[in-house]
Amino acid sequence: MNQRTFALKGNICCSETSSSLSISENSYVICEDGLCAGVFPFLPEKYRGIPCMDTKDCLIIPGLTDLHLHAPQYGYRATGMDLELLDWLNTITFPQEARYRDLEFAEKAYSIFAEDLKKTPNTRACIFATLHVPATELLMDLMDKTGMKTMVGKVNMDRNGTPQLQEESAAASACDTVKWIEDTLDKYENVKPILTPRFTPSCSDKLMELLSEIQKKYNLPLQSHLSENYGEIEWVKELCPNTSFYGEAYDQFGLFGGSCPTIMAHCVHSCEEEIQLMKKRGVYIAHCPQSNTNLASGIAPVRKYLDEGLHIGLGSDVAGGTNASIFRAMTDAIQVSKLRWRLVDSSLKPLTLEEAFYMATEGGGAFFGKVGNFKKGYEFDAVILDDCNLSSPLDFSVKDRLERLIYLSDDRNIKGKFTAGNKVL
Ligand code: GUN
Ligand code: FE
Repeated sequence: MNQRTFALKGNICCSETSSSLSISENSYVICEDGLCAGVFPFLPEKYRGIPCMDTKDCLIIPGLTDLHLHAPQYGYRATGMDLELLDWLNTITFPQEARYRDLEFAEKAYSIFAEDLKKTPNTRACIFATLHVPATELLMDLMDKTGMKTMVGKVNMDRNGTPQLQEESAAASACDTVKWIEDTLDKYENVKPILTPRFTPSCSDKLMELLSEIQKKYNLPLQSHLSENYGEIEWVKELCPNTSFYGEAYDQFGLFGGSCPTIMAHCVHSCEEEIQLMKKRGVYIAHCPQSNTNLASGIAPVRKYLDEGLHIGLGSDVAGGTNASIFRAMTDAIQVSKLRWRLVDSSLKPLTLEEAFYMATEGGGAFFGKVGNFKKGYEFDAVILDDCNLSSPLDFSVKDRLERLIYLSDDRNIKGKFTAGNKVL
């Protein structure tokens, strides 16, 4: 018995399948040494005497995973939202990210980011930093202290940046990357490095070759962007005339799934060959509906990805997206899927609440292993939700209460949060 062995009592909700929920009212979910031992109507004999927190009538759900966000963009989210991707990067994002050369500024900005992220229903996240090694390591220090489990990436970019935000050469970028990996690979309990070539337009072939060697040597996962915006896709065609679609620009260097666990953000306009290659290589898609709406990128065909059995989770993509809570990404995913169905392709049915819940929990969580469910053996990530301030004269079922919390709640409704059995909030 230790501090990471306890029970929570309440209304327990988790995915039964990718399209159905399991709801256990007034039940117990047990954490045994950081792992989930299951959900029970009574406290089993074996666990009598372990600490039990009775949440009364609260809902208890698995923690949510944000598969894609940019920490240095948190400070200016919800400004400059009237541009498309490439103009937004050049005029707003790159100048802002250049500021992270200044560690004092980075400390101020990343402290706010880490504190705010702690208050969300998210327990895991895959985070882009900037190209600067000292500021990235500072971000990792701060994230480690939150108790959330995260992967953080020093960004690689050796072309098409600005004079203030671009690495000197492919070799310099690779050299900084190795230093950063050596510094951080075994340093933290809760944070791991993830290779982060920003996107193809930012990375020369030479840099991709070097990152491929680094990936193999250290056996690291990777995150990047894919087929987000029409202008971007056309640009990649010009930059990589030897490839027949965008995904190949990563795949030709072995940086597209397979033995390189990979998250590709967006996949709004992926062609059929790209979709099939993602499926074959087991690439995770980070669906970021709020960002895709803000930057007018489009609406990803998520129904198709689910039907094809691709790995898919949700991302806030702050600051393309304005809200860090993955509850917001769930409702946005449902809403844009309805617009796509109505206006673009009536053969792809809108997403259901159950499907959005699955993507937010186990869909994205799976990138971290057995995460995002209360099945036996899963890492114990849980969020306790109190809806007593969402007043109504009606009597709601637990399923209705969950839906209302997803659509209406904010950080104030979160009464507790655990990651891998550790109390974060
Ligand atoms: N593509 C390359 N960089 C970025 C970024 O910072 N945000 C988004 N949404 N797309 C990108
Ligand atoms: Fe992004």
